Amino acid sequence: MGLERAASIDDLRLRARRRIPRFAVDLVDGGAEDERNRRCNVEALQEIELTPRYMVDVSNVDTRATLFGQTYDAPFGMAPIGMLNAFWPDADRTLARLCKRRNIPYVASSAASTTLESLAEAADGNGWFQLYVSSDADVTEGLIARAEAAGYTTLMVTADVPAAGKRDRDIRNRLAVPFRITPEVVAGLIAHPRWSLETLIHGKPNIANYADLLQSATSYADVQKTLITPGFTWEGLKRLRARWHGTLLVKGILHPQDAVTCADLGCDGLVVSNHGGRQVAFGPATIDALPAIAEAVGERLTLILDSGIRRGADIVRARACGADFVLAGRAFAYGVGAGGKAGAGRATDILQLELARALGQLGVPAFGEVGPSARSTFRHGPGQHGPRVSAALRDGG
Ligand SMILES: Cc1cc2nc3c(=O)[nH]c(=O)nc-3n(C[C@H](O)[C@H](O)[C@H](O)COP(=O)(O)O)c2cc1C
Repeated sequence: MGLERAASIDDLRLRARRRIPRFAVDLVDGGAEDERNRRCNVEALQEIELTPRYMVDVSNVDTRATLFGQTYDAPFGMAPIGMLNAFWPDADRTLARLCKRRNIPYVASSAASTTLESLAEAADGNGWFQLYVSSDADVTEGLIARAEAAGYTTLMVTADVPAAGKRDRDIRNRLAVPFRITPEVVAGLIAHPRWSLETLIHGKPNIANYADLLQSATSYADVQKTLITPGFTWEGLKRLRARWHGTLLVKGILHPQDAVTCADLGCDGLVVSNHGGRQVAFGPATIDALPAIAEAVGERLTLILDSGIRRGADIVRARACGADFVLAGRAFAYGVGAGGKAGAGRATDILQLELARALGQLGVPAFGEVGPSARSTFRHGPGQHGPRVSAALRDGG
């Protein structure tokens, strides 16, 4: 299928899967353990019904959204993704430049395969920096100082990685540190010559911000210790708030009480996220967690939702459940994997056009005007949705 025939993010995913070796596809596609959370993020969004209203003038649909004093052309941005150049060569910079061109935010991951300085330059004012708090305070401080010097004004600290997620696909694919060339890897390289050639041209991907520190890493445990810590607590967040003078967001919040604590500590916003289902398999879908968080802190904090966004309508659904903005991870990754720069552009077009169409169909001329009243309550009571609830109602339970 050519790019122009890709009608949806799922179509881009299928195209990317044909162009990329299996172990690299699984790296992005995969979730924690049995991947229940990865699937239910998408399914719970699909379960949310919105009731269209007609006879409203929707000749000019406005998809803009203003966050922290900056107006973006669309209410979605690129979520931070580590090691994305392993999926498609030079994906990081391709996506950062795309976000600048389309005037949407790009979040550079601590674990990106391109340095934060290079991504600040590529995103040119549209870049935010995502921070993993390391078990070594000097490593964390080094990253913060570099982010400051590179001109980032928004720091997004990720809270949901007290331990690395267990991803069964990566274990089956024997992805390890140091990277080992297995017979499966060799077969994958031969079967995908374009990917192999581009990877050769752009060089073996690494976790660029820590390249020196990780040179001597001989195990995955070494890498983990450098990147993350099980000891990141509210005290640590308090210190971070005192240290970072710009906008501070916490990513990975699912419990309303944690959201309240973030607000009390002076954070500016939250990303209601479960890491795209990559950390645990037993948690809630983010769209299910959002309404209670919006009720608890919606007046105090900017709320961003991620995990499972595959359609423009999902962005409207998120808004109706209390989000101000959304991030998408895999949707952009599939785009760049399906066709480099053109594929990334196609992913953005699909989300943007679907979003504008959904707003028009819903009878709401501006994204900011979507409110909770857009949600249907025919099948479920207000605030209730999801296959589990609907099954119970249908069964009279
Ligand atoms: C391959 C991959 C790598 C990721 N790396 C990071 C990371 O380095 N830091 C982070 O905070 N989140 C990371 N995430 C999570 C994303 O930021 C985001 O929460 C998730 O992709 C949203 O779900 P979606 O892919 O369904 O849109 C990663 C996600 C994927 C798929």
